[in-house]
Amino acid sequence: MFTRIDHIGIAVADLDQAIRLYRDTMGMRLSHREVVDSQALEAALLDIGDGHIELMSPLYEDSVIGKFIARKGEGMHHVAYAVPDINLALREAKAAGMEPIDAEPRIGIRQSKVVFFHPRSTGGVLTELVQPSEEH
Ligand code: CO
Repeated sequence: MFTRIDHIGIAVADLDQAIRLYRDTMGMRLSHREVVDSQALEAALLDIGDGHIELMSPLYEDSVIGKFIARKGEGMHHVAYAVPDINLALREAKAAGMEPIDAEPRIGIRQSKVVFFHPRSTGGVLTELVQPSEEH
């Protein structure tokens, strides 16, 4: 069912500083940057192979990413796997025992469709399934 890692999500306190690390120090291409108001975060995508590093910084402290950083510090937040059909993948993952956090897929960064799964059902790793938009 899972065939490709789309991205690794990393929580960062300062997006510009993190971009300098991944782009300028590590040499990855910055391909996208977006404020996601619904999640109270700003995100950046950097290309690595045919996948991405997704940097996420909180817009304010009392947000999902802000609380994550307060609790655990900066660092790895989730692993996202690309799927061709998010609704089919959600049904199959549920049937296989994975617990979705979202009842329905929602719109993620760059107009993708995403579903997150509870870490208690995925070996302690917050897991995302993502159906990239047609252009990506
Ligand atoms: Co993600």
